[in-house]
Amino acid sequence: MPSPDLAANSNLSSTLRENRVFAPPEEFAAKAHIRDLAEYDALYQRSIEDPEGFWAEAAGELDWFTPWTKVLDWNEPWAKWFVGGRLNLCYNCVDRHALGGKKDKTAILWEGEPGEVRRLTFGELHEQVQRFANVLLGLGIRKGDRVAIYMGMTPELAVAVLACARIGAVHSVIFGGFAANAIVDRVNDAECIAVITQDVSYRRGGEVRLKATVDEALKHCPTVKHVVVYKRSDAAVEMKSGRDQWWHELMAAAGAECPAEPLDSEDPLYILYTSGTTGKPKGLVHTTGGYAVQTYLTSKYIFDLRDQDVYWCTADIGWVTGHSYVIYGILQNGITTLMYEGAPNYPDPGRFWKIIEEHKVSVFYTAPTAIRAFIKWGDEYPAAHNLDSLRLLGTVGEPINPEAWMWYREVIGKGRCPIVDTWWQTETGAIMLAPIPGAVAAKPGSATKPFFGIVPEIVNKDGGPVPAGQGGLLVIRKPWPSMARTIYGDADRYVKQYWTEVPGSYFTGDGARMDEDGCYWLMGRVDDVINVSGHRLGTMEVESALVAHPKVAEAAVVGRPDAMKGQAIAAFVTIESGHEPSKDLKDELRAWVAKEIGALARPDDIRFTDSLPKTRSGKIMRRLLRELATHGEIKGDTTTLEDFSVIARLREQDE
Ligand code: WTA
Repeated sequence: MPSPDLAANSNLSSTLRENRVFAPPEEFAAKAHIRDLAEYDALYQRSIEDPEGFWAEAAGELDWFTPWTKVLDWNEPWAKWFVGGRLNLCYNCVDRHALGGKKDKTAILWEGEPGEVRRLTFGELHEQVQRFANVLLGLGIRKGDRVAIYMGMTPELAVAVLACARIGAVHSVIFGGFAANAIVDRVNDAECIAVITQDVSYRRGGEVRLKATVDEALKHCPTVKHVVVYKRSDAAVEMKSGRDQWWHELMAAAGAECPAEPLDSEDPLYILYTSGTTGKPKGLVHTTGGYAVQTYLTSKYIFDLRDQDVYWCTADIGWVTGHSYVIYGILQNGITTLMYEGAPNYPDPGRFWKIIEEHKVSVFYTAPTAIRAFIKWGDEYPAAHNLDSLRLLGTVGEPINPEAWMWYREVIGKGRCPIVDTWWQTETGAIMLAPIPGAVAAKPGSATKPFFGIVPEIVNKDGGPVPAGQGGLLVIRKPWPSMARTIYGDADRYVKQYWTEVPGSYFTGDGARMDEDGCYWLMGRVDDVINVSGHRLGTMEVESALVAHPKVAEAAVVGRPDAMKGQAIAAFVTIESGHEPSKDLKDELRAWVAKEIGALARPDDIRFTDSLPKTRSGKIMRRLLRELATHGEIKGDTTTLEDFSVIARLREQDE
């Protein structure tokens, strides 16, 4: 059991003194789905007293081919939701609206980094997903087969995802910023038979050569038979005959009609890899029915969606936020979802505000790390644009410091827009904690209250209750519809990782405290997962990449607080004899990690050392390294340290 090492998150200490409360703006509350605290409390109470009745009612708002016979079958930790029910998530995102009066409404509003704008109506999206579903079927892809998707933020990425869902193929989206090796691990783990990619994507004015990276990866992926390449540009790419085909050619030849397959509620929808406490990312498996219902309902209530909204979540579809809140939850509600291809500061730091102004974005959902960057870039950029269309703001991915929250509220929301700080995880599939904006007062730095049907608790290392106001481990007591069902190919790891630490509960890996009002304050991870600019990384992943370098003997990686990124990556490295520490070697190692995993994993600090602090049983004492990386000194208990001189030497080498 990891101990809640909350001191490591000292950049959040300001939340301990935070006591501002912002009631929902009256004008907002008057029109909201849920209008006051009493209504929230009553519905929350009902949802936990009769969760099956509550979730069945929510599920009834979607289209089912066959109704379920039982809402929940719970045999801890194995959950089945909406047992026996048949539905199709693509149908609920697309057909239901295309055929239900929204044929000409914009479903996807896309802006490329160079500036092109495309609008796909629900009717057009309907046509595209049917054709692409036929393309997949034509390649021999069937229900249950795994398809990797490695693309930039283009409408075709959403089409590919939805087409997989339409035929029951299991998509595994791999973030376009990952390097070839990361693709290899993910594609091989899931034994994908096809990869959907594109020639290039644009970021900060440059080309991201996605197809070339796929080519490099596929030298080591024996299961992949087909590659479909969407042509985004005129960039030349190599096409391997017999394996690679162009998206547009296949689409032109494909039939226009492909009915949505009635899938079982528990048929897998997707696999999404995320970092854990080992060197190997784990493939969380999400299934169809429960995930559909909870992403639908959380979108509706937390973003308080209205038919005329233009909703923009800035997350990449390569992360869970993009799955649940760029595509599935939003389109199920029949809302226009905006996708932007590129960087927030291209061609200048006003790009996001320009997009909001031009497309009249009404709901905006982004990460605290982005907000901190906007603050740094200066208020003149948002000030130069009309942001009056905004009515609700959201954050996700990491704890937000109260200063950034206040800036977001005042400078972007002009004090008018409620802010929803949403806490959740790849594993939870959907938002678990967030203020319902018309009902629950917001507090800067707190994700406030549980969503309906969710039962969180703060416990100590032994699973016992922790009084209000004190830090502990965040667990979830009851199953919820969108929970991941397992880790692909490793059910034991799923049980061990999430359901063994605190018996009878789902273990989140996050530290948190609850205040007297029942609001939750997240305090960061208590395990070896770090959160760098809202991107989740395992310290062991970075370590394995480092030790794969021929000059590295041993490496230990920890997170340290960083004012911009939330956490920065600090690496302690011992080098093989015959090599000397140098600035060049540091640069070489940084570049190496970026090439092995992706630029997001590039270490911020590298310190060379001739040994690492270990316990007598040989375990690296990361706590000491975290302290050293954070404060430059060690105050904590060192009694289990095997060789005390290591600490002295580490300090000496700390230039
Ligand atoms: C962190 C992203 C504080 C947390 C949806 C969690 C947050 C991890 C918040 C999951 C928030 C996410 N406040 N911390 N509002 N949202 N986190 O799987 O540590 O990429 O465990 O899912 O991000 O990251 P993941």
